[in-house]
Amino acid sequence: MGKINQKIGFIGCGNMGSAILTGLIRNQIAKPRQVWVHDAIHSRSLSVKKKFGVGVAKSNSDLVRRTDVILLAMKPQDLHQIGSDIKRDLRKGHVVISILAGTPITKLKRFLGTHAVVVRAMPNLGAQVGKAITAITSTNQGALYIARSIFLSCGEVIGLPEKHFDLVTAVSGSGPAYFFLLMELLVQVAERGGIGKKEARLLAVQTALGAAKLASLSALSPQELRKQVTSKKGTTDAALRFLAKRGFSNLFISAVRRAVQRARELNQL
Ligand SMILES: NC(=O)c1ccc[n+]([C@@H]2O[C@H](COP(=O)([O-])OP(=O)(O)OC[C@H]3O[C@@H](n4cnc5c(N)ncnc54)[C@H](OP(=O)(O)O)[C@@H]3O)[C@@H](O)[C@H]2O)c1
Repeated sequence: MGKINQKIGFIGCGNMGSAILTGLIRNQIAKPRQVWVHDAIHSRSLSVKKKFGVGVAKSNSDLVRRTDVILLAMKPQDLHQIGSDIKRDLRKGHVVISILAGTPITKLKRFLGTHAVVVRAMPNLGAQVGKAITAITSTNQGALYIARSIFLSCGEVIGLPEKHFDLVTAVSGSGPAYFFLLMELLVQVAERGGIGKKEARLLAVQTALGAAKLASLSALSPQELRKQVTSKKGTTDAALRFLAKRGFSNLFISAVRRAVQRARELNQL
């Protein structure tokens, strides 16, 4: 993982901002004295200051004046406000990395002006445990190198053209929620059958962990791995046939397509 020499500022220190910051400091990609934060909720800034010894800026504008690389980690609907806070302070040489869902680079530039180089990134909640997958895109190679170093500190990184970002948002940005839902349902079935809460959770979560680990280490595709678990006329076979009969695959694919459509709708707001 490449170290970063520039000063980095986080606008927003919620779920994602604090997860990325944790990866950055724990993996020594940047030193605490290189990092500044500003969150609308002051206690959030103070909590990361206490934990990691990073600086707390007085305002978003103050943060931009103190740093070279700015990571936008607030909600997309706050972009308008952030734009008016920092547009005047952004200069040539600044790099802005945005993780805002459904917010294309053209829209970011509309609110932030054209001085800064912009990187669009789409990480996911896996960042909280160093297991994110982040897609990044920019026309500037230097900025992409910085973004890659930052996101490698909290998982894997792939470069993709911006035209794929709505799809990435629906597949991997929202993706953890699909797997959480499956775990939630497995826990429900186990509990309803009389297994204790703690044991039901362990059964579901450890199963998901094992499946993910296997899929990441094996040369076999998820489909081939699924077949390994499915002996003919066995229990898994019965469950999967039931799902197929009820159109589960089509339903699930349509749900992910709905997420893609929602990302496109957000682009237009
Ligand atoms: N969560 C995910 O799984 C995920 C995955 C991929 C991408 N993203 C993207 O990551 C971004 C952050 O998501 P999140 O889940 O981390 O949200 P979050 O937990 O709500 O964190 C955002 C933080 O930014 C603060 N904020 C709002 N306006 C601000 C301002 N003007 N100046 C400074 N701070 C401000 C918020 O304060 P208030 O609560 O007071 O508004 C909040 O503390 C979103 O744009 C989302 O699209 C999220």
